[in-house]
Amino acid sequence: MKTLFFVAMVMVLAISLSAESGWEAIKGRNRFLSEKSERVVLTCEKYPKICHVEGSSGSDCCKNKCVNLSTDGSNCGKCGKQCSYGKICCQGKCVNPRTNEKHCGKCGNKCNANSSCIYGMCSYA
Ligand SMILES: *[C@@H]1O[C@H](CO)[C@@H](O)[C@H](O)[C@H]1NC(C)=O
Ligand SMILES: *[C@@H]1O[C@H](CO)[C@@H](O)[C@H](O)[C@H]1NC(C)=O
Repeated sequence: MKTLFFVAMVMVLAISLSAESGWEAIKGRNRFLSEKSERVVLTCEKYPKICHVEGSSGSDCCKNKCVNLSTDGSNCGKCGKQCSYGKICCQGKCVNPRTNEKHCGKCGNKCNANSSCIYGMCSYA
């Protein structure tokens, strides 16, 4: 009777141990998978084409991020080119939207010949 009990205990222990290691194996696998897919998503340096997919924030790759060099104030015209305070990035150039006649107030807002850009608005002066 005592031996039977002992055998039963050992079996219970063995089952719970193997269940645990099975669980660990599943978790480890998931971790491996998520790390792998994350790396694929972030690596535009390795796969530049991922920046061309629809919904991407830009078709250019800077520091493994998809950006639009034409409008990105931190990567204006080229990677790492930061526009200084108060300037915005239009067509890859840092401009001051308060005074720029071609980008007055926002990119592409061109003031006509008789007006000038004052405080970001095309005004006749
Ligand atoms: C980048 O920004 C410009 C100006 O907004 C836009 O015309 C162009 O389609 C953008 N490019 C991408 C790839 O999003
Ligand atoms: C400015 O406006 C005046 C009067 O409307 C017009 O005669 C003149 O040709 C304009 N100048 C330019 C450069 O558009």
